[in-house]
Amino acid sequence: MSAGVSAPLLSLRGVRKTFGTGAEQRAVLDGIDLDVAEHRCVVLIGASGSGKSTLLRVVDLLEDVDDGQVLLDGQDVADPWVDADAVRARLALVFQQYNLFPHLRVLDNLTLAPRVAHGRPRAEAEAEARQMLERVGLAHKARAYPDQLSGGEQQRAAIARALVGRPELLLLDEVTSALDPALVGEVLDLLLSLRSEGTTMLVATHEMGFARDVADEVVFLHDGRIHERGTPQQVLDDPQRERTREFLRRLR
Ligand SMILES: Nc1ncnc2c1ncn2[C@@H]1O[C@H](COP(=O)(O)OP(=O)(O)O)[C@@H](O)[C@H]1O
Ligand SMILES: [Mg+2]
Repeated sequence: MSAGVSAPLLSLRGVRKTFGTGAEQRAVLDGIDLDVAEHRCVVLIGASGSGKSTLLRVVDLLEDVDDGQVLLDGQDVADPWVDADAVRARLALVFQQYNLFPHLRVLDNLTLAPRVAHGRPRAEAEAEARQMLERVGLAHKARAYPDQLSGGEQQRAAIARALVGRPELLLLDEVTSALDPALVGEVLDLLLSLRSEGTTMLVATHEMGFARDVADEVVFLHDGRIHERGTPQQVLDDPQRERTREFLRRLR
């Protein structure tokens, strides 16, 4: 890329993904075009089953695509010849379920991948892990086991673990939807602070207030297609299409 021209970090072009075979076959992603520029946040909204998780999983190479391109810095990562581990090292996906290892202390949850998968020395991995725990407000929980943490703290620890590899793109899939309502705020606050630090994010969420605060672009998915997109004000306050209005009405 020439200096000054900022190509999107992530571009999806005509991405199609089907599940099932024969008469059961269904396009879960049906021609998705989407860009996420560096330091930007794109928020995916849509009813359950609209394809949000599949889209995030395609980007993280957990699902292959049937057609189209998934470009990271212009390189098509959907190409079967691409080194998937090298691509995944640039991304981090955090799920609804925190997926911490219950038998490992919080600190060890954060250092496992760097030490085992990337051969980082323990002291170095722990120093970085402590830094990330500090950043999510959990420095004092480094020695605790996951079940000694609240749901909100576990999810913050999972986000800290995702940040350890210094991913260029953070993918977040409904990270607050398994939490007690009282614990949602602390996780959203953390994401807002990551956003203000310039973290590039692609986020699926049902939290419209959060979407409004965090999104540069809101993308409404319906039946595997982008049905409407725009700024939070455009999509959430003044939706142009009936399905978007209906979706937002149902949430209220
Ligand atoms: N591995 C799979 N096999 C078959 N169908 C799947 C699979 N994963 C997801 N689906 C289907 O794809 C559709 C979209 O799912 P998903 O991406 O999870 O939507 P969302 O995250 O928006 O709720 C749903 O109908 C779901 O049942
Ligand atoms: Mg989902």
